[in-house]
Amino acid sequence: MYKVAAIGGDGIGPEIIAEGKKVLEAAGERFNFEISWTDFDIGAERYLATKDLLTDEDLAELRKFKAIYFGSIGDPRVQPGVLEKGILLAIRFSFDQYVNLRPIKLLEGVETPLANKTPKDIDFVVVRENTEDFYVGIGSRFKKHQKTELEVIRDLYSVKFGLDIESDAEEIAYQIGVITREGARRVQIYAFDLAEKRRKKLTSVDKANVLSDVYGLWRDVFSETAKKYPGVSTEFSFVDAITMWFVKNPEWFDVVVTPNMFGDIITDLGAMIQGGLGLAPGGNINPKGTSMFEPIHGSAPKYKGMDVANPIATIWAGSLLLDHLGEHEAAAAVVSAIEKSIKDGVVTKDLGGTAGTARAGSYISECVRRE
Ligand code: NAD
Ligand code: IPM
Ligand code: MN
Repeated sequence: MYKVAAIGGDGIGPEIIAEGKKVLEAAGERFNFEISWTDFDIGAERYLATKDLLTDEDLAELRKFKAIYFGSIGDPRVQPGVLEKGILLAIRFSFDQYVNLRPIKLLEGVETPLANKTPKDIDFVVVRENTEDFYVGIGSRFKKHQKTELEVIRDLYSVKFGLDIESDAEEIAYQIGVITREGARRVQIYAFDLAEKRRKKLTSVDKANVLSDVYGLWRDVFSETAKKYPGVSTEFSFVDAITMWFVKNPEWFDVVVTPNMFGDIITDLGAMIQGGLGLAPGGNINPKGTSMFEPIHGSAPKYKGMDVANPIATIWAGSLLLDHLGEHEAAAAVVSAIEKSIKDGVVTKDLGGTAGTARAGSYISECVRRE
């Protein structure tokens, strides 16, 4: 019996989590385990009613679980960033989920927008650092007459650009990216260990040619760590270039390790080459603590409650969750069942089908049970 926390969240989140639960329960029936769910009411509705984002009680309760199954958050009634930072990032940071694992794999039967590429060409994993970089939340905006420690910089720029300091042109904002040696090392070690189990190739992403302090440290740590893994071949890629290579030669990649923000961006690109956001799963992992599994897409508010969202990304994230619990056979069966549903054409509109969210999820759960 596994105890798993579930957070449906906002938009399409509750619908896709419902389908994910169905499939994981079916996997349990077939592989002889049970999942007991504890649902958490966290998200926009509660926030609008109570102003609570993630409370100390939520954290204390969630901490009791090894895994959280997460739908998505984000709601048009709430200013962007409030729920995203106050809930999703708060969970990632509070539980020190320093690995954001995002497999980019083209499943059999899925069409990629890349010409002449097949499932054997698109099968890699992005290991995104998940607790540092520009996500640490150090930054500020300064408006007129607010005397700050940045006054000197501001004055400098008003002289340099001839700005009228009486106008709002003087407003200034900054945000700081932080990389720590240990933060880089631990996620890179995770990526090297993963590469050793796969095709033994690891690509490190940075922008050390411009942001040479933060990503210079990232790169130094990578070079040092690489010495301990002589069996893994390594390379560096600048982030701008890797977006080109993902499109041109995705078959080059096995494991890709990246700082947080670049990882966010390149995995939406990765999702598209594997057939779309509706297919791309992710895991936020703390190997020794509470981990969280979610689709990489957001709450797609325009599809809320319409039974059209593709549940596959979430179901696949459920497979990552099972892997994390040690149920490897069940995890593999879930991915096979997803493939079967695609082969049989019981898929949602984004994949060219006519099935609704619930039908697509039920079909996958039947496949898991039957296989
Ligand atoms: P989004 O990922 O929610 O949606 C972008 C588009 O992708 C959708 O309009 C839809 O066309 C498509 N799409 C996404 N998921 C789909 C699915 N399951 N099935 C079919 N099509 C799907 O991104 P957005 O519109 O930029 O953001 C909406 C909200 O979600 C924002 O508040 C954002 O901050 C938040 N967000 C949350 C997460 C998260 O919870 N992990 C991730 C990204 C964005
Ligand atoms: C993701 C999302 C989040 C991120 C947002 C919603 C905070 O885009 O999971 O990719 O930037 O990490
Ligand atoms: Mn993202």
